[in-house]
Amino acid sequence: SSKEHKIGEIIAEHHRREGPLLPILHDVQEEFGCVDTESEAIIAKGLNLSRADVHGVVSFYHDYSPTADPRPVVQICRAEACKARGVEQIIDAAKAAAGERVAIKTVYCLGLCSAGPAARVGDDLHIRLDNQSVSKLIENA
Ligand code: FES
Repeated sequence: SSKEHKIGEIIAEHHRREGPLLPILHDVQEEFGCVDTESEAIIAKGLNLSRADVHGVVSFYHDYSPTADPRPVVQICRAEACKARGVEQIIDAAKAAAGERVAIKTVYCLGLCSAGPAARVGDDLHIRLDNQSVSKLIENA
């Protein structure tokens, strides 16, 4: 499968280092939004570990989730330039609009520093956000 292929690449990238499992899990989580049982099996095979070993590590660390978060994601930039342009003042409104329905992720720089506060939803970038526009953006996510 393409998943197997991608995870194979990730394993190849890390397998020579000492303690490759955590960086591999990190990359798999980033790539797929979760480390599911299929991924655990592929990683176990690739590193010559038992599935139970890999599963033990995955369930020990809260950084890894067994299933992808199904909620829409809104990425809000909270790096320096957006801070200077007031992103911290719109976070409460963003959280209120998101509730439990939308996942808000903090990111550091979307390359729109001169037009912040900036956010990204999928491939769409949004600039000059204020309380009203960020709420609207999240409600439509
Ligand atoms: Fe926010 Fe660069 S600091 S887009």
